[in-house]
Amino acid sequence: MSALLPPSERIWGNAPLDKVEGTWIAIALVWCLFMFFMMPYWHVFGKQNYSGEAYRTTPAAYSAKVEAMVEAHTVRKETDQQIPVVRPPAGSDVYLAGRLWSWYPALELEKGQTYRLHISSLDWQHGFSLQPLNVNVQVVPGYEMVLTITPDKSGEYTIICNEYCGVLHHAMMGKIYVVDR
Ligand code: CUA
Repeated sequence: MSALLPPSERIWGNAPLDKVEGTWIAIALVWCLFMFFMMPYWHVFGKQNYSGEAYRTTPAAYSAKVEAMVEAHTVRKETDQQIPVVRPPAGSDVYLAGRLWSWYPALELEKGQTYRLHISSLDWQHGFSLQPLNVNVQVVPGYEMVLTITPDKSGEYTIICNEYCGVLHHAMMGKIYVVDR
């Protein structure tokens, strides 16, 4: 048979399956199934990124929650832009917003305490990436991601945006401080 000429039998799908062809189809099927079941397996046992939870929200509703937390728990302001540093009560819900082009506000969390960290966008898509740890979350307006976190090492962590979002994408940074009690 030639790839250039039409097949001699017009209904070529009726031709019997060649043994080699059948073997390859079987190998491909087994591999597909193996890869498919590896997804849930690796999610549970592979020390993967957080899966977290997601809820619907709106930029306005989310912004209101961020502002309420900033108003109640700001401990100082920093940088030329006077970004509030918020120290929410241990164990509470913490709200972080991504927007063009910053993460708002800066957070101060206590080592060894568990928080529910909410992340959402107030405009369009950003990517939450926590350095130097391997935490990556897509941040999409209209959805609120919730990660349950327990910081286990004090220090200064930088949030960068890893989803291209415009001319100042590279400058879109934020801070999370983890402090000893
Ligand atoms: Cu936000 Cu890139």
